[in-house]
Amino acid sequence: MDLSNKKIDDYVLKLGEKTVKPIFQGGMGVNISTKELALEVARLGGVGHISDAMMPDVADRLYNTRFTSLKARQCKSMAGIDPKPDMHFDPIEIERATRMYVQDVMSAKKGDGLVFINCMEKLTMNDAGETLRHRLNAALDGGIDGISLSAGLHTSSFAMMADHPRFRDAKLGIVVSSVRALNIFLRRTAKTNRLPNFVVVEGPLAGGHLGFGLEDWQKFDLATITGEVIAFLKEKSLDIPVIAGGGVFTGTDGVRLLEAGAAGVQVATRFTIAKESGIPSAVKQQYFNAEAGDVVVNGISPTGYPMRMLANSPAINSDAKPQCEAYGYMLDHGDCQYLKAYREALAADPSVKRPHIASKTCLCFQMRAYKLWTVGATAARLKETSVRLPDGTWYEPPAEAIMLDYLQSTNDEIRLPEVPSSVLAAHATPQNSPMTSCAAS
Ligand SMILES: Cc1cc2nc3c(=O)[nH]c(=O)nc-3n(C[C@H](O)[C@H](O)[C@H](O)COP(=O)(O)O)c2cc1C
Repeated sequence: MDLSNKKIDDYVLKLGEKTVKPIFQGGMGVNISTKELALEVARLGGVGHISDAMMPDVADRLYNTRFTSLKARQCKSMAGIDPKPDMHFDPIEIERATRMYVQDVMSAKKGDGLVFINCMEKLTMNDAGETLRHRLNAALDGGIDGISLSAGLHTSSFAMMADHPRFRDAKLGIVVSSVRALNIFLRRTAKTNRLPNFVVVEGPLAGGHLGFGLEDWQKFDLATITGEVIAFLKEKSLDIPVIAGGGVFTGTDGVRLLEAGAAGVQVATRFTIAKESGIPSAVKQQYFNAEAGDVVVNGISPTGYPMRMLANSPAINSDAKPQCEAYGYMLDHGDCQYLKAYREALAADPSVKRPHIASKTCLCFQMRAYKLWTVGATAARLKETSVRLPDGTWYEPPAEAIMLDYLQSTNDEIRLPEVPSSVLAAHATPQNSPMTSCAAS
């Protein structure tokens, strides 16, 4: 089919009574998909996601609260003691942090789009059920337009929200990587008598954790899984929009999926280098400079899921001391694979004070410190989306430019952003050498 003149802006996504542009900007924790990023996407008519990963810590940074330091004080006495069954979050604190953040975001919302929050089931905070229940309900209290349930099967998440007055109005959906996962979710949530408003199908080229095996992710592809999910829903006579994500780099990539039956696309990697993204500027330059061989999928996440990242991420083979007590997060009731690997390394050679751990990483600490540079498989193409400044660094385009390029570009082209003269002046080299676009470099 000739798609040369088609653009994403020719399509609309209907979520119940609401019509939006068919672009979801995917959730990126920890605070990579900032409120500024999500709000821009919503202002331009799409669906922007914030993330609730490490919300107490994010609230501390944004609102000068002291959730993390108070938590660290409570947990200090548990250092070196294992397991740590008493190391729980106070659910009321989780609620307060989440509500404060969501209310702040929603009060600033403008435009016709929507703001959703990404909630990962695997972020268990040592008490999976209670913490998730409070996170979900507090987001609804705060006025969030919708919730994307990710990183898990979420068999109880709908039931956890069923008594909330907004349970039937808010847009609720799930991120899956297979028909099997979707089928389990639908069967287990049938008793709540509420279907999801959308299903995001995340393929193997996505950033963050992958819903595939470390050895077999390459055998799958987004278009095929999306087609299977659409066929499954049709067979069940379920009219639920399917959003396809993972590797959608140009507007035309999106058009191909929309023509094949997807109702929308979810994108993230292209927004990592946006001005509004929470990644520090120096790290964004690493993203821009990545080459194809620098993007790896490995098993260092202690969650057990494969994760895609840049091979030069400081989180790889780091000597970070386990930070459970500092942040209060703990996987598997203290049976975290990083904790284990760290202890084993210390026991094997007590003369080494800070062993480097190659097999696992301290995920909470490294993500919070922006030292684990997770990306989608297309990261090496980011340099096609911007312009080099006279001092050799890359320009961080505003989210608006990325969103408009996705919506309006045709023929697999990418529109380069215009660089304001103030930015050019701020990045001028002493020689004032001419600016080069990536096409010329
Ligand atoms: C930097 C980064 C962080 C991410 N963090 C999360 C996350 O916290 N939770 C989640 O469900 N997905 C996460 N993802 C996946 C995205 O939400 C999205 O579905 C996917 O990356 C889309 O593919 P693309 O990056 O190729 O556009 C992340 C992706 C990136 C690139």
